[in-house]
Amino acid sequence: MELKIFDNKQKVAEAFSAYFANVVKGEADFHVALSGGSTPKIVFDVLAENFRDTMDWNEIHFYWGDERCVPPTDDESNYKMTVEHLFSKLSVPKENIHRILGENDPKSEALRYANLLEINLDRVEGIPQFDMVILGMGDDGHTASIFPHEIELWNAEDHCVVATHPDSGQKRVSINGKVINKAKTVVFLVTGQGKAEKVKTITEKAEGFKQYPASLVQPESGDLVWFLDRDAASSLS
Ligand code: 6PG
Repeated sequence: MELKIFDNKQKVAEAFSAYFANVVKGEADFHVALSGGSTPKIVFDVLAENFRDTMDWNEIHFYWGDERCVPPTDDESNYKMTVEHLFSKLSVPKENIHRILGENDPKSEALRYANLLEINLDRVEGIPQFDMVILGMGDDGHTASIFPHEIELWNAEDHCVVATHPDSGQKRVSINGKVINKAKTVVFLVTGQGKAEKVKTITEKAEGFKQYPASLVQPESGDLVWFLDRDAASSLS
């Protein structure tokens, strides 16, 4: 596990964008699972602004680690956010964008998406393997859409699960922990003071860390890199 700490959210976004561009460089058919959240939103702006003409976007296949079960026109949609901040500014082939269909019935969509991953991705020990999974972390220690109150979903048999937001009850489709931990590279993008206590507990394996899904992100053979701003890293020893 590597921790990279930067002054602020914008610097995290700029550093990750350069890191991503470097990892993707020269790759053919790079399969990445995107995240929702406020930090990825800035990353997408930076990628579109600084890397539009220097990256071979045709070689990248975009998926989502999770999606809210809402139409793609809904402001809650991670897909909508990605279109607004990234795809609307680039020419990414439509066939390279594999969105979770939030407008579908959650259970049928979880099955459809799991099947899509199994078809599109290499499988290692039967589990679809992403080249990269980008994650955020909630103040409660959730990641993707695996929340503490449903932590058993982490090891679900199905590669995609239906989760429920603990406050709003909103249904979400999320990849499970087995798919996350099979990835070649997993990156956390975590910023803000509200995350500091969980970042410390999880990265330092402090008492009670296992109750938080983000602590279960332990790639089997892949790299794990945390991109943090100073606020999110402020409680680290
Ligand atoms: C989502 C994300 C979720 C997000 C965290 C952190 O769909 O919202 O998958 O896991 O990454 O809630 O969000 P912030 O980066 O906005 O704090």
